[in-house]
Amino acid sequence: MEKFIPFALPDIGDEEINSVVECLRSGWLTTGPYAKKFEENFAAYIDPKATAVGINSASMGLLLALEAFGVKPGDEVIVPTYTFSATAMMPVHLGAKPVLVDVEVGSLNIDPAKIEAAITEKTKVIIPVHFAGLPCDMDAINAIAKKHGIKVLEDAAHALPTKYNDKLIGNNSSDATVYSFYATKTITSGEGGMILTRNQELVSRARMMRLHGISRDVFDRYVSPGSKWYYEIVAPGSKCNLTDLAAAIGIEQLKKCDTFHKRRKKIAQFYLDEFKNLPIKLPELPKEGDDHAWHLFVIRLMDNVINRDAFITKMSEANIGCSVHFIPLHLHPYYQKTLGYKSGDFPIAEKAFNNAVSLPIYTKMTDAEVERVANAVKVKLG
Ligand SMILES: Cc1ncc(COP(=O)(O)O)c(C=O)c1O
Repeated sequence: MEKFIPFALPDIGDEEINSVVECLRSGWLTTGPYAKKFEENFAAYIDPKATAVGINSASMGLLLALEAFGVKPGDEVIVPTYTFSATAMMPVHLGAKPVLVDVEVGSLNIDPAKIEAAITEKTKVIIPVHFAGLPCDMDAINAIAKKHGIKVLEDAAHALPTKYNDKLIGNNSSDATVYSFYATKTITSGEGGMILTRNQELVSRARMMRLHGISRDVFDRYVSPGSKWYYEIVAPGSKCNLTDLAAAIGIEQLKKCDTFHKRRKKIAQFYLDEFKNLPIKLPELPKEGDDHAWHLFVIRLMDNVINRDAFITKMSEANIGCSVHFIPLHLHPYYQKTLGYKSGDFPIAEKAFNNAVSLPIYTKMTDAEVERVANAVKVKLG
């Protein structure tokens, strides 16, 4: 039996290991100089006019950004049904209602035409998700948001480095953008996330709320230099700061972001060439001026050729791991029970889910492994 090819693997080199060891030896493990450097480098990479706020996950980054936008009980937040739970669950934690919207059949990104139909007087924020790393139609989404006085918070968990209109996602493409450095993402810090924005009020609020609602401003204003122990709690904050240990990994990963991206693009192109005559729907390609991060490579099978679960079983018999992105949120018991969604509500997302398979695509894959995956797909479908 050939070696198992997992669905995803992080790509950690000596640089990351040495950086973590250095951090461990420094005696400072929690948020400190490494986190600050990672934030500065991250903003410089995407948008030098923006500020990055390091958070312990994208999930908590979404929560803090929504909180900073003033989302409160009774508000509504528009999200695609075709996403990971965090996109919709963070509004719930603020007492707001996630309003699910169907996606476009090709890109699997939120459908701007359907956003417009979902807007009510209670709508406060739209969260587009750049599914798999393909950019959403941000011009259309921003135009709708502007017309209705709504904020746009991009869920860029898959979108580093995605480009829209020749600029990286997060470079002034919305009110704020949140990235994930979870272990399987395009760069990782083990667990971690970043909020990027040009909105300095959001930056101050998120910095305070990630650390118990302790106000440094109050500290600066009221305390003499000698009383370093003094602090004041001025808001109901949380505890979701990015540690220096995680940032020590993130700093080195960010340096490799472009090289990693080249490798992912190469693998994606190989799959696209190899699969062009197969009876499957290939991932939609980026438009002129856009770029795909290729966090995921999602093929869609044809009902009359092979069933999705049977295909995944056959791939696992060939010792190849696959996954499925996503089980649409309206099919999950929580969203059905609390918000009344049901099967059939969002037919495009549901059809995509029934046929979607995510193939392994990551920088640690050797050419031989990429070929093995491509051959296995061709054998199962040819
Ligand atoms: C679209 C999307 N948003 C948010 C998240 C949450 O990211 P994190 O694990 O960093 O909280 C994920 C994680 O997989 C995701 O896929």
